[in-house]
Amino acid sequence: MSDTPATSELDRRPESKWSMVGKDPYAMPIDKIDLAHPGIWQENEFLPFLKRLREEAPVHYCAESATGPYWSVMKYKDIMTVDTSPHIYSSEPTIGIVDSFEEFTVPSFISMDPPKHDEQRRVVQGVVAPTNLKSLEGLIRQRAAAILDDLPIGEEFDWVERVSIELTTQMLATLFDFPFEDRHKLTFWSDAATAIPGGGIISSNEERWEAMQDCLATFTRLWNERVNAEPGNDLISMLSHGEATKNMPPMEYLGNILLLIVGGNDTTRNSITGGVLALNQFPEEYDKLRADHSLIPNMVSEIIRWQTPLTSMRRTSTRPVVLNGQEIPEGAKIIMWYLSGNRDETVIPNAASFIIDRANPRHHLSFGFGIHRCMGNRLAEMQLKILWEEILSRSMTIELQGEPLRTYSNAVRGFTHLPVRIVA
Ligand code: HEM
Repeated sequence: MSDTPATSELDRRPESKWSMVGKDPYAMPIDKIDLAHPGIWQENEFLPFLKRLREEAPVHYCAESATGPYWSVMKYKDIMTVDTSPHIYSSEPTIGIVDSFEEFTVPSFISMDPPKHDEQRRVVQGVVAPTNLKSLEGLIRQRAAAILDDLPIGEEFDWVERVSIELTTQMLATLFDFPFEDRHKLTFWSDAATAIPGGGIISSNEERWEAMQDCLATFTRLWNERVNAEPGNDLISMLSHGEATKNMPPMEYLGNILLLIVGGNDTTRNSITGGVLALNQFPEEYDKLRADHSLIPNMVSEIIRWQTPLTSMRRTSTRPVVLNGQEIPEGAKIIMWYLSGNRDETVIPNAASFIIDRANPRHHLSFGFGIHRCMGNRLAEMQLKILWEEILSRSMTIELQGEPLRTYSNAVRGFTHLPVRIVA
C-alpha cells in the first residue's frame, strides 16, 4: 500500500468517523451499522456484521453513511428476488456500490435496463460463446503452463503478481486483441477505475480521470483500426461493428470497455488468489484435492462462492415496494450483499466452511442472477479449472508464507499480495 494521504471521506484512518474497524458489531445499535466503509473489508472483519444483520435486520436501513442513506439486502432469497425483478429494482442510474466510485460514473450495459441493456449485451456475448471458449482453452493451458514453469521452487514470492494478475491480464489482452506487450496497462486501468482515492492505486479522482482519458484514447485508436477492417472475433471489433453499439458516444464506449476490463480482470484474479488462501486455511480440503483431481470443477465453484469477488451490486427502486416485510420507498439505493447471501446458512449448509466436494456447488450468488447475470462466468470457471489442472499435474503444493494484504474496497473483495512458496 502507498502512504499517499487519503482524500476520500471513506479513508482508512482509524479516526475516520465512518470506520467500523475494531468495533464489536453486537455492541452497537443495529441502525448504526454501516457496511460502506472499506476498512472492515480490508481488515477482513466484516463477517460478524453480515451475520448480525442477516439474523436481526435482513433488510437493513443505514440512514447515515459517507455516501448517503442506503438499504442492505442480506439474505440469499431476498437477493434473488431483487436481482430477478429488474422492473422494480432498476440498474439505472448506476450499479456503483456505496463508495466514492460514484463520483466517477460512466454508462455501460451493466447499469442499463432493457431494452438497451439486452441489445448491447447481445453485441459482445459471442466472445464467451461455447465455440469461442473451446478455442481459448488450448491458449489458456499453454499460458498457465508457462507461468507455472517460470515460478521459483522453494522460495517465497507474491502469488497475486506472478500468477493471478499475469494469467488474467493475458486473457484480457486476447479478448480485446490488445497489444500484448502493453497488457499491464489493462491491469492499471482496471484497478484505477474501481479504486478508492487514497487506497494505494490513485490518490485523487483527478488522477483517476487522467488514467481513464488515457484508456479512452488508446481504445479509440484501436476502434478506428477495427471499424475499417473485416469484423473480427475480439470485443473491440464486436463493439465497433455491432448495430446497437457502433454509434455509441465516447463515454459509453469507455464505460463498456471498463465493464469488460473490470469484469474479466479483478474478479477472476481474486478468485485465483482466494482459492490458494482457502486451501491453506482448510488443509484437509487440500488433502482431498491432492488425492482426487476430479474434484477440480466442483472446487472451482466453491472457490468462487467462498471468495465472492464482488461483494455486492446496487439497484434503485422504481416504486414503493415491500421486501421481506420491510417497506422501501421509491428511488431508494439498495445494495444486494452477495457475500452475505453466500454465507446464508438457511440456504447453504455449512456456509461458513470451505468444502470442495459440497453438493450443488454452483448454487451461489457470486455471479448474480437474472438479466445481468455475469456474462463471463464460464470463462472465469474455465481459467480456474485449467490453472488447477496444471498445478496438480506438476505435483506442486502452494504453501502460504504469511498474511495476505487485502484490497481497500467495499465492492471488490480482493488481494494485493499473497506470499507463498511452492513445494514440489
Ligand atoms: C469469478 C469471476 C467473476 C465474477 C465473480 C463475476 C461477477 C459478476 C457479477 C456479480 C455481475 C453482476 C450480476 C448481476 O448484477 O446480477 C457480473 C456481470 C458481468 N460480468 Fe462478471 N464476474 C466474473 C468474471 C467475468 C469475466 C471473466 C468477464 C469477461 C468477459 C465478465 C464480464 C461481465 C459482464 C460483461 C457483466 C455485465 C452483464 C450484464 O449487465 O448483463 N465477468 N459479473
